[in-house]
Amino acid sequence: MRKPFVAGNWKMNLDLVRARELVAGIRGGLGTDADCRRVDVAVCPPSVYLFPVANELVGSGIALGAQDVYPEPKGAFTGEVSAEMIKDAGAQYVIIGHSERRHTIGHLEDDRMINLKVKAAGAAGLTPILCVGETIGERKRGQTLEVLTFQLVAGMTGVSAEIAERIVIAYEPVWAIGTGEVATPDQAQEAHAHLRGELRKLVGDQADQTRIQYGGSVKPDNAADLFGQPDVDGGLIGGASLKADDFVAIISAALATVQR
Ligand code: PGA
Repeated sequence: MRKPFVAGNWKMNLDLVRARELVAGIRGGLGTDADCRRVDVAVCPPSVYLFPVANELVGSGIALGAQDVYPEPKGAFTGEVSAEMIKDAGAQYVIIGHSERRHTIGHLEDDRMINLKVKAAGAAGLTPILCVGETIGERKRGQTLEVLTFQLVAGMTGVSAEIAERIVIAYEPVWAIGTGEVATPDQAQEAHAHLRGELRKLVGDQADQTRIQYGGSVKPDNAADLFGQPDVDGGLIGGASLKADDFVAIISAALATVQR
């Protein structure tokens, strides 16, 4: 049985004082460490806050993740951060190929770059959270499953079995991110089942162990229905991860699926 995984993607939000308050709120809300043994939980702050947030998380059972990584180990790459640096700062996870990096931010990251990042993060011992998802135009044209296959295969190309064992996939329909428009549980399940099937072609039975998170306007009131789908293994949470009560409620919805 797959352990659900709920991660908060803080994006470019909060300052250090508010980040510390948020962690304290989440810790207080979760109460016992036992919660983090049945559901994996992580927060992904902006890279400058990784180290101080790591300190706030000590002893909590909550893991730390970064929002991006550069694939080279070192060198003249002004402004970038390597996988080893992220690890040094105390992170275990790194989000790779988020739709805002693919489509919004000037970098317009392509699948080749995303693949290099997955391999570099994995080689450094980090767990990549590989994001895939279709735009509204692609969905309307009936290309959703085709786009998901392409992004998954491109992102996983040449990834070692050792990295494939721990990689996490996040299905994030671009049209649902930050819009308040959430995929229906059926739409999410269709995409997740498809991704798991395509993953099986790449990594065999390992696909049954791989966590596939849903991301895109997950809120306390829709989390239970989404996480209740057989192939949805938790979520990658943006806006709602910035409020301790909402994030804890979403974690509770994931916990409820393991208590069934
Ligand atoms: P959202 O963001 O929950 O604010 O839609 C999700 C994400 O971008 O990971």
